[in-house]
Amino acid sequence: MKEIEKAIGVFDSGLGGISVLKELRKHMPNENYIYFGDSAFAPYGIKDKELITNRCIYICDLLIQKGVKAIVIACNTATSACVQVLRERYHNLPIIGMEPALKPAVDQHSDQHVIVMATKFTLKEKKFENLMLKYNKDNVIYKLPCPKLVEIVENDQLSNKQIVEETLKEYLSSYDLSTIDSIVLGCTHFVFYKEQLQKIVGNQISIIDGNEGTTRHVKELLQAKNQLQVVNQVGKVTILNSSEDEAYQTLSKELLEC
Ligand code: DGL
Repeated sequence: MKEIEKAIGVFDSGLGGISVLKELRKHMPNENYIYFGDSAFAPYGIKDKELITNRCIYICDLLIQKGVKAIVIACNTATSACVQVLRERYHNLPIIGMEPALKPAVDQHSDQHVIVMATKFTLKEKKFENLMLKYNKDNVIYKLPCPKLVEIVENDQLSNKQIVEETLKEYLSSYDLSTIDSIVLGCTHFVFYKEQLQKIVGNQISIIDGNEGTTRHVKELLQAKNQLQVVNQVGKVTILNSSEDEAYQTLSKELLEC
């Protein structure tokens, strides 16, 4: 198979990366995609670096064996844990990672008050600390770990509006929202809550995620390498999951179409 015809590999600790896959398909519909959700090992956000790194290596090996021209780490946690290790190991392949989109949140104005919702792991890692150091001199940045928001997605409870609303309100209860300018969704699972979260916090707070920026980056990278699919037909999406429970397949497809 020619390199250009190969799929784009996308993976996450579970189903959160489907929100990234949706965005990738919106902007590059003709590409083929292989998505791997590691639901049997989710959540990553409360695990240690070594385990996350070993899982990511296993997943990348598998995606490469299936034939991919690039790999998108559709997971902020996995990116913080091991993006460098993966880039060194697979140096012939573009590896695109994700980080909480703090830059767009503070770029327009100074003295921004921003809540970053992410996993415990992402928020305690060096990568995020460096990002904070860059922006917290001129802004006020609050770190908010939200493990329950990962569980709700993985347990197929997203459609339970009451649980979702109660959980979001509980996480935000210690903030005076009238002082907050934006909320950054620094975990790909959280993007599924965007609409409901916006209703809760009101339109004066911007909700920012990194999915569009990541998609733009993937497209530019492939364009620069002349590897954007030229065939004018909608590409194929293959969904794989480490869990043997068939429900994850169904749920993945539902999330992709919603
Ligand atoms: N979706 C992942 C992220 O973007 C992590 C969720 C988890 O497994 O804890 O960080």
